[in-house]
Amino acid sequence: MQNTIPAVMPAIDQTSPFLELCGQRQSCRSFSDQPISRETLLRVVEAARLAPSACNSQPWRFILVESPEKVAQIAPCGQVMGINGFLKDAQAILLILETPAKLAKMIASVIDGQYFAKGDIGGAALAACLSATEQGLGSCIIGLFDRPKIREILDLPDETDIAYFIALGYPKNTAVRAKSRKSLDESLTIV
Ligand SMILES: Cc1cc2nc3c(=O)[nH]c(=O)nc-3n(C[C@H](O)[C@H](O)[C@H](O)COP(=O)(O)O)c2cc1C
Repeated sequence: MQNTIPAVMPAIDQTSPFLELCGQRQSCRSFSDQPISRETLLRVVEAARLAPSACNSQPWRFILVESPEKVAQIAPCGQVMGINGFLKDAQAILLILETPAKLAKMIASVIDGQYFAKGDIGGAALAACLSATEQGLGSCIIGLFDRPKIREILDLPDETDIAYFIALGYPKNTAVRAKSRKSLDESLTIV
């Protein structure tokens, strides 16, 4: 496909509060010990709950872990293969479970061999992170963790599919890092 993007992209005017928020969101790997209010956390969940999904199937359930005892049990489940040591300082954890859709929604959510639930959950996770950023919270999505252990701690049935968890806390360092991303002309085709 012929790409009509000029070789050098003209600068985009980035004076948009939403783009600013997108730029400020970054994976936080250093949390302070400041507790997070329930109201702040519920706003994070609300943002995720409002996310779009295929046929509005909403293939998710959220578990908000806010009790310090439970956070201290669950956070280490993401410290696998010597990574994610920062999780020990997380103040709250939002688990996003992928739930089996009802039959009609399930059929509708798998169209043309496309299975949309994973993407839907990714959108919900991003919405949660953006809400966290907007409220001055740091967030980090964690994909690799000891799922059986978390199911055991929370007494969840074996078949519970925990897609991601999001570690939350106020950042120790609020400096915004430069983003490492493909350039616009590598990422976009305009026809
Ligand atoms: C599904 C998923 C899993 C991730 N797992 C981890 C993780 O285990 N540890 C970590 O430090 N960051 C994790 N991240 C964060 C990514 O490394 C990060 O989003 C990416 O490097 C871009 O950086 P930024 O979020 O700061 O913009 C994960 C992100 C996603 C979307």
